Amino acid sequence: MKTAVLYTTTYGTTQRCAEALVAAIGQGSQSFDLKRYPEPNLQEFDAVIVGASVYVGKIQPAAEAYLKSHEDELLRKPLALFLCGMQEKEMSNQLQNNFSESLKKHAKPLVWLGGAYPLKKMSFMHKLMVKTIAKVTDEQEAIRWPELEQLANIFQ
Ligand SMILES: Cc1cc2nc3c(=O)[nH]c(=O)nc-3n(C[C@H](O)[C@H](O)[C@H](O)COP(=O)(O)O)c2cc1C
Repeated sequence: MKTAVLYTTTYGTTQRCAEALVAAIGQGSQSFDLKRYPEPNLQEFDAVIVGASVYVGKIQPAAEAYLKSHEDELLRKPLALFLCGMQEKEMSNQLQNNFSESLKKHAKPLVWLGGAYPLKKMSFMHKLMVKTIAKVTDEQEAIRWPELEQLANIFQ
């Protein structure tokens, strides 16, 4: 299916996932960064995937705003939702809390794709938060590639 993969990212992990999905799905699929392109035209796409990353429990405001204002349009197409994040223990809560009931019901699947801590790219404040709260001192990557592949397969 020609799929639009809409995403928000802060340090590029969700973008990597979105681009990997587009490459795996093919068929003219395209990714759109919602911070740069807040109104991509979905008419020419058969299906939509929306992905965002989690910061202190919440997805980026651009993703939240998009999901809210385009809910009706998203409910009319095959849809998947994914989150990137590093707090695996909070995975279910974060998937539950960041999407409306209607979107969660419609989305197949609603999936966690893991994430990364690219410390070198992070702002001083974010680095400090990661080091003090998550006790992370080295760069880490934990993208769930098998789940990403499974997601792509659904849209092929
Ligand atoms: C300040 C800060 C807060 C974060 N808060 C959460 C969180 O609440 N839950 C979570 O699962 N991951 C959290 N993360 C991890 C990010 O979601 C992870 O780094 C993700 O891969 C970021 O993707 P992005 O580069 O596309 O924005 C946090 C990271 C930072 C730097």
